[in-house]
Amino acid sequence: MSPMTHHLAFGVDIGGSGIKGAPVDLKSGKFAADRVRIPTPSPSTPDAVGAVVAELVGRFDLPDDAPIGVAFPAPMDHGTVRFIANLDQSWTGVSLTDVVHRTTGHQVTAVNDADAAGIGEHRYGAAKGKDGTVLVVTLGTGIGSALIVDGVLVPNTELGHLEIDGFDAESRAADSARDREGLSFEAWAQRLQRYFETVEMLLSPDLIVVGGGVSKKHAQFLPLLHLRAKIIPAELRNAAGIVGAAAMADLEAAKGHQRKH
Ligand code: BGC
Repeated sequence: MSPMTHHLAFGVDIGGSGIKGAPVDLKSGKFAADRVRIPTPSPSTPDAVGAVVAELVGRFDLPDDAPIGVAFPAPMDHGTVRFIANLDQSWTGVSLTDVVHRTTGHQVTAVNDADAAGIGEHRYGAAKGKDGTVLVVTLGTGIGSALIVDGVLVPNTELGHLEIDGFDAESRAADSARDREGLSFEAWAQRLQRYFETVEMLLSPDLIVVGGGVSKKHAQFLPLLHLRAKIIPAELRNAAGIVGAAAMADLEAAKGHQRKH
């Protein structure tokens, strides 16, 4: 570890229903204090979300120099939202890094939520230390993807928006589609099979890690999938976004690419 590496960073995970955060011990990848969750404001505009993130961070006694990593459900162009599927459309083109820096005063690194989860799983969880092509897929409101090749993240892969059989993949195969349509796990697994075989055809991953809240029910659907790659449940589950965002913030801070507070 670089001597500049912080022992602690704060991770925030912004989702469609909740904004969650906790300080993360970067050695163990565990929360250093209990996670706090505040419902996502509606409408989920940049100002409203920025205020909630500040409230969340304010609940902890965070050292001034602790960097904050923010996981966000959109492709992030160096901290700026490119497009957004499942939160307020006014985020398009907005720098999340600037919004959270303004409201908290901390150094901020803003990344895609699935990329954060992928880094969390690769550094501390189910894909720990795995070489080769690792794909972490999160099944939630949308479908998120993180592609990690020999330990290096290829950011913003957005494989949830592949068009499969004429549909945006996440509209059919996300966990929210299972919920919305009242699908059995068997029926949902057929959609997942179609999804993962398409992804496998395109990328030939060595390992697929499945995250998102539903991954705790993996026994009900992962055994129904037949793929060439090994497919396993995430270990950090819903903590992965927070933990991974904190780890990425720490890496950025250590690189010195960070905006100063
Ligand atoms: C977004 C991705 C995000 C995923 C999971 C998709 O709709 O486009 O950026 O990672 O949902 O939240």
